Amino acid sequence: MNAFTQIQDLVLPLPSETKGFTLSPSSQSPRLLELKFPRETVDAFIEAVAQWPVQALEYKSFLRFRVAQILDELCEGTLRPVLINTILDRATGGMLITPEGLDDVSQADDMVKFSSAVAHLIGRSNFDAMSGQFYARFVVVNTDSSDSYLRQPHRVMELHNDGTFVQERTDYVMMMKIDEQNMEGGNSLLLHLDDWEDLQHYYRHPLARREMRFTAPPSKNVREDVFHAVFDNDAQGRPTMRYIDQFVQPRDFEEGIWLNAMSESLEGSARKLSVPVPVGSFVLVNNMFWLHGRDRFIAHQGLRRELMRQRGYISYQKTLYQRGQ
Ligand SMILES: [Fe+2]
Repeated sequence: MNAFTQIQDLVLPLPSETKGFTLSPSSQSPRLLELKFPRETVDAFIEAVAQWPVQALEYKSFLRFRVAQILDELCEGTLRPVLINTILDRATGGMLITPEGLDDVSQADDMVKFSSAVAHLIGRSNFDAMSGQFYARFVVVNTDSSDSYLRQPHRVMELHNDGTFVQERTDYVMMMKIDEQNMEGGNSLLLHLDDWEDLQHYYRHPLARREMRFTAPPSKNVREDVFHAVFDNDAQGRPTMRYIDQFVQPRDFEEGIWLNAMSESLEGSARKLSVPVPVGSFVLVNNMFWLHGRDRFIAHQGLRRELMRQRGYISYQKTLYQRGQ
């Protein structure tokens, strides 16, 4: 099956064929596409951007767009329309991306450059208050005393959206595996909103549109509360969600009971995908209609996992793009 045939919400003309990467449905779901970059493309990219350390991308925002352009040029301009159309396509909106040959923690800087290039072909990554950069790398080990489930291995991190307690738009979420030692379990959990059996029940509930309070714990370095409803619509009137179990603060009994029931419904969904993400690969999903989480791991003294995340907004200019600029 040609994965292109699934892309419905076209905003840019699709190339007749891809160059420098392949696209196919994943084994987990036709909604999740797999993009693979052969070693040849990856090596050429790494060489072309070797002149800029990651720090240069941190200091000069526009360089992130230049490295993005370099990757797209190596794909003969076929990558950007596929990425933008896929991330916006309601029927899919999710990708598992693998740059072949980038599979060891010693290549972490190149992993950051590669994933930053992909992110800046679809938009721009937001400032991450946890790291003070446009991306955040963080380590999960066997013992942890942090104030959220983000770094705690032995618990499921329940399905949620990102960006619920910040003001900025968070259209996409990218999660990359940088390192993994002595790990058993811990797959990424994903649920497309339209696959959730109880979506209509919760979306049509009177509390779906009530503004609720979202508060981040101290480690997130976000001090202000944010108020918004759990559900909204996109421009076509389709449901979108902005929800996280750990940081929503129900005002009263009614909100608390409703949120708890919704959380149990999400966690109990039979349509949840469990996706192994190898070192060097990353998941990129539309945060408006995909929920994500992480399955529990088996305890191990030597357990180490390092992840990188980027969240941001989607942005493209159709007319400029069509003029080839
Ligand atoms: Fe998250």
